[in-house]
Order: sequence, then C-alpha cells, then structure tokens
Amino acid sequence: MEVIIQPDAAAAARLTARLIADAVKAKPAFNLGLATGATMESVYAELAAMNKRGEVDFSRVSTFNLDEYIGLPPEDKNSYRYYMNFHLFDKINIDKQNTHLPDGMAADEVAEGARYEAAIKQAGGLDLQLLGIGSDGHIGFNEPLSSFASRTRAKPLTPATYRQNSIYFDPPETMPMRAFTMGVGTILDAKRIVMLITGAKKAGIAAKAIEGPLTSMVTGSAIQLHPSVVVILDEGAASQLTMREYYDWVFANEPKWKNYR
Ligand code: PGA
Repeated sequence: MEVIIQPDAAAAARLTARLIADAVKAKPAFNLGLATGATMESVYAELAAMNKRGEVDFSRVSTFNLDEYIGLPPEDKNSYRYYMNFHLFDKINIDKQNTHLPDGMAADEVAEGARYEAAIKQAGGLDLQLLGIGSDGHIGFNEPLSSFASRTRAKPLTPATYRQNSIYFDPPETMPMRAFTMGVGTILDAKRIVMLITGAKKAGIAAKAIEGPLTSMVTGSAIQLHPSVVVILDEGAASQLTMREYYDWVFANEPKWKNYR
C-alpha cells in the first residue's frame, strides 16, 4: 500500500483524477470501478474538465459502480445511477451502454448479484477500482461484518449509514434500508485500488483502515490484502496516521511519483 497526503481536499481529488486519467490513457479500453458519495464529486468534476480539454478519452471505457439502493429506479434523484449520470456520464464522451450499476429494481436479488458479477467477469475484470470509505469503515455498502470473501449481493444498511445518508432524501424515511453492493471479494479482485479519504471527520476510520488490524468490523481494512493500493488523503483525514514520515518519504523520493509531486 502507498499513502499520499495532499494539502487539501481539492488537491487530493485532483491527484485521484490524474491517476485515473493516466491509467485510461495507458489502456483506452479500460474497465473502471466507480464510487459515489460527496467525496467523489470533485474527482468527477476534474475528470469531466480533463475530458472537455481533450486530455482523456472515455469512448472505449466501461464502468462498473460499487453499489445501488434497492427499490430506487434510475430516474430517482437519489439513485446512484442518477448521481453518476449527473456528476460524470452526462459530461464525458462515454457510451452510456458501457456504464453499469446494479439494477435497484431487480426482482430477483440473488440473480441480480450473480448477473453483476458475471458482467464484470465477462468484461475482463476491473482494471482499477475507485473507493471512498464510510464513517463506519464500509467500502461500497459492505457494512461491518461483511465477509472479506463476499460478492455482489443485497446488504442491509446499518442504522448509522441510514442516518448519515437519509439527509439526502425528502422525506428522510423514503431512503431504502438495503442496497446492492459489490462484495469485499469483488473489490479485491480489481487489478488496482485507489482510495480517496478527505476531511478530519474521517481521520479515525482512515487510520483504522490503513494501519489498524485486518477486521471485517472495518471492511476498508481489507485493502491491506491487495497488492496494488494507493490511498490519497488530505491533511485532515491523515491526521491520525502514525507512519506519516514514511509515506511522505516514499512520495518525495520514489521515481514513479515524480510527475505527480
Ligand atoms: P462520502 O461517502 O464520500 O459521502 O463520505 C463515502 C462512503 O460512504 O463510502
């Protein structure tokens, strides 16, 4: 795992977008795993701006999102399909046919999980998975105690996640209590993982995921099992890390990071 700390959230998002764009430039028929949430909005704004400037081409890119609320149709403003169209897909030259999310309206939940897994496999697997982390340590909607071997499935959300996300729903009680999510095992199958964590409120959970023990109580800690992970944080989110000197040392001195400093 490599940990890169940037001065603020905007710089962290810009670096995240650059890593994604450079990976797409190196392999134009790219399978990109995407995430939603407030943290990612500035990453997508940056990718859209780069696309507009002709710096990155999404015409051959396929995307697979981590999760979708169960019971929300794509046109619902709170669905993650709506979020993705609004923040990214409508602003870049991607073929919408190649953008995938679990179908929140699927009648057969078990079959939907299997269909999504098969679609990722058929595409050739994910080249890169973008991750945020929830305050309870979740990646995707893999809430505490989700198995590290889990695959795409329906998952009940925790009361804490419900309280946190229902502020976006009007009225709040209309938020679904369950979601489809890629499993931790699905995420770990991606060739690379890029995790973005910003804000002082996430400092405690960031330290647990990055430096704490492996535990399904913090599903984000599963990234420690993956051979190619970059975690990008701002100063606030990095404030409880104990190996800070080492992380800065690597970023300042490793040749691979030369163009990103
Ligand atoms: P956030 O969501 O970016 O809105 O904090 C992160 C997550 O829950 O994965």
